[in-house]
Amino acid sequence: MAEPGDYFTFNMGRESIIIARISKGELAAMYNVCQHRGARVLVNDRGSLDAFVCPYHGWKYDHDGTLLDAPDTERFSQGVPCDKLSLKHIRIESLGAIIWVCMDEDTPPLTNFLGDIPDMITPFRLDDMALAVDQTVTLDANWKTLIDNFGELYHVEHIHPQHALIFDCPTALVELFEGGHNRVLIDGFTVNSRLPIPHEPPDFQKIQLERLGLDPEGYSGRVLDIRKDIQKAKREKGPEFGYNYDLLTDDQLSDIVQYNIFPNTIWAIQTEELWVMRARPHPTDPNKCFWDKFTFRVDPSEDAAREANISFNPEDRDVRTGEERVEHEDFTQEDVIAGKYTMTITVDQDVHLLRDIQAGMHSRDFDACWLNDDEGRVQHFHDWVDYYISQEFQ
Ligand code: FES
Ligand SMILES: [Fe+2]
Repeated sequence: MAEPGDYFTFNMGRESIIIARISKGELAAMYNVCQHRGARVLVNDRGSLDAFVCPYHGWKYDHDGTLLDAPDTERFSQGVPCDKLSLKHIRIESLGAIIWVCMDEDTPPLTNFLGDIPDMITPFRLDDMALAVDQTVTLDANWKTLIDNFGELYHVEHIHPQHALIFDCPTALVELFEGGHNRVLIDGFTVNSRLPIPHEPPDFQKIQLERLGLDPEGYSGRVLDIRKDIQKAKREKGPEFGYNYDLLTDDQLSDIVQYNIFPNTIWAIQTEELWVMRARPHPTDPNKCFWDKFTFRVDPSEDAAREANISFNPEDRDVRTGEERVEHEDFTQEDVIAGKYTMTITVDQDVHLLRDIQAGMHSRDFDACWLNDDEGRVQHFHDWVDYYISQEFQ
């Protein structure tokens, strides 16, 4: 989105929305709807154009949506008032490189809505990361079922057993914020402290130790010391490999934090990798949704980094420039189950189950969920959904 005329489109519910670069300093968001007879003005996902020309009868719009020209204006005896017939704008705000749109004129500005969250994520320097994987899966589940799934760690020991050797989920710290947002902080480079502690470092941690020049043998019987030593080693060696950790605390160097931004966005952040996940409602079927997962990395070339991994080999570093955008992978839940696509093993495990959860909640004999304390984020999310809906109908 660097040059004027660069654009992308995306669908949200029934709407198709254009995001366009107007000038160096300005972006616009507009409904992708021609004001002549309602055709989609832009039919590609992204590109760069001198002007936006509707494919139906050729109405021509400027990058900011201003109607420039309609063929055969003399045939409109009532005239073609360009000011009235420009593309309709939507509110657009950005947080660093992350762009937000809002179809409601009356909501508060983004920074008010996000509260302290922008300050909390600043140390991670997310703008230094580049898109490494771009995926969308179509799921047979309502978008809120997805958000609920990413709103608790209670299921982790059951369906994500591999996490026991990477993170300590039972000691995670949950924080609930005004506006329906929440976050959870999870210790990384450690093991599940509720289960027997292994004598030897798990394989994943051995790899990381070696990359940082630490000898895994030295951690026999001392697996719980790894987290602090990784923090020290990253602090020492990071800059040498081009990672800028200056604003981060020691714990942030080893841990993972997940922000659930109300209503439909989730960020899972580690120092070298960010997942932005977004649930989009299906335009007509509430039992379906689209789940986008954008993986950003400081070093987007490192394929082995798909799951909480880092490359400390300077030879591997090949930071992608704006011109080389990765392909968008678009697939279904069936494709994931068949092993044709993966969103990392952890997300795949969730994807396998979601359809059945959606179906189960429709049972005539299922009245309500029965939540435990760890599922407080699920309750918090729904309390705010209920609050906004009640405001709407006041
Ligand atoms: S609908 Fe776009 S020009 Fe007719
Ligand atoms: Fe999960």
